[in-house]
Amino acid sequence: MKRVEGLGACPLGIGCWALGDAKMWGDQDEKAGVDAIHAALDAGIRFFDTAPAYGGGTSEEFLGRALAGRHEEAVIATKVSRADLAPRDLRRSCEASLRRLGTETIDLLQVHWPNWEVPLEATVEEFARLREEGKIRTFGVCNFGPKDLGDWLKEGGAQTTDQLSYSLLARGIEKEIVPLLLENAMGVIAYSPLLQGLLTGKFSSPEEVPPERARSRHFSGDRPMARHGEGGCEELTFATIDRLRKCADAYGMEMGAMSLAWLMQQPAVRIVLVGVRSRQQLERNREALSIRLDEEQIHELDEVTRPLLEAMGSEADIWGSPSRMR
Ligand SMILES: NC(=O)c1ccc[n+]([C@@H]2O[C@H](COP(=O)([O-])OP(=O)(O)OC[C@H]3O[C@@H](n4cnc5c(N)ncnc54)[C@H](OP(=O)(O)O)[C@@H]3O)[C@@H](O)[C@H]2O)c1
Repeated sequence: MKRVEGLGACPLGIGCWALGDAKMWGDQDEKAGVDAIHAALDAGIRFFDTAPAYGGGTSEEFLGRALAGRHEEAVIATKVSRADLAPRDLRRSCEASLRRLGTETIDLLQVHWPNWEVPLEATVEEFARLREEGKIRTFGVCNFGPKDLGDWLKEGGAQTTDQLSYSLLARGIEKEIVPLLLENAMGVIAYSPLLQGLLTGKFSSPEEVPPERARSRHFSGDRPMARHGEGGCEELTFATIDRLRKCADAYGMEMGAMSLAWLMQQPAVRIVLVGVRSRQQLERNREALSIRLDEEQIHELDEVTRPLLEAMGSEADIWGSPSRMR
């Protein structure tokens, strides 16, 4: 029997968005992606996250193919889009995900984004029915702020996880959401932990960042794909990356692995969900599992990133303004 309650023993999980959404991330070499997933399994990394929204189901299909013959080793998390939260749509979405993933049970089915027009009570009841029928092992949420989490708990939603954007460059969840999750014995699945590659140091200036990855509030609202309309803080973001790189050099580690290790040591974090597109990226990110930052290093990284945290504020939605979270 798989350990779903603990979401697997390893704190590192693999995000499969980029493996099946060419429009957002560019073409993916199938063999390199499958190789990355097999290398993860071989290293004891068992948690894989995807969504019907990633490439309109392409990412789920990719994961299903990559896990052929190894489904039993994996803990599979997928999502239901905000447009599909009414009971009948939720059931249809879940069944389509099961088919694409080539499995009989989804380990963790998550609400992708809240939809304030659909009564949460009915969604929670349908999740519970799917669990009784064995189609899902458990369920949870993504992108739920304090108000939605409160409603979720009131309606009897599972006290599992809230998947949120969390990284050294995006710490908006720390003030309100993390304390609430801890109070309710829930945890964070941290997404975009490298801020879509920025924390690997692969871009040396804001101008190098392609439009698809410059949609967050770190970047100017004038960027072609941005929807937030804010001024952004591009200079401060890149000055912070420079300072983080210096810290990593001084500690004798790669900035990406250091960033993942910092996250794994945050109190509410259960899984750090990193996107990888090749075995090489997997191997580099896996280094984080052998890093234990000491208290002084954690404190230094907190302080280096504090000015950016203050500039970005405690808003947890890094993409939208107005926020799609509450
Ligand atoms: N619930 C939600 O609303 C939500 C939102 C966003 C993401 N997610 C989940 O979280 C997962 C991870 O987030 P993310 O993919 O947005 O961002 P991320 O994990 O911060 O960045 C992943 C990207 O960074 C690059 N990268 C990773 N490791 C690298 C390395 N060692 N060296 C160089 N480049 C490296 C790769 O892209 P390139 O090789 O193309 O540079 C990779 O696709 C997603 O796959 C998805 O499952 C959930």
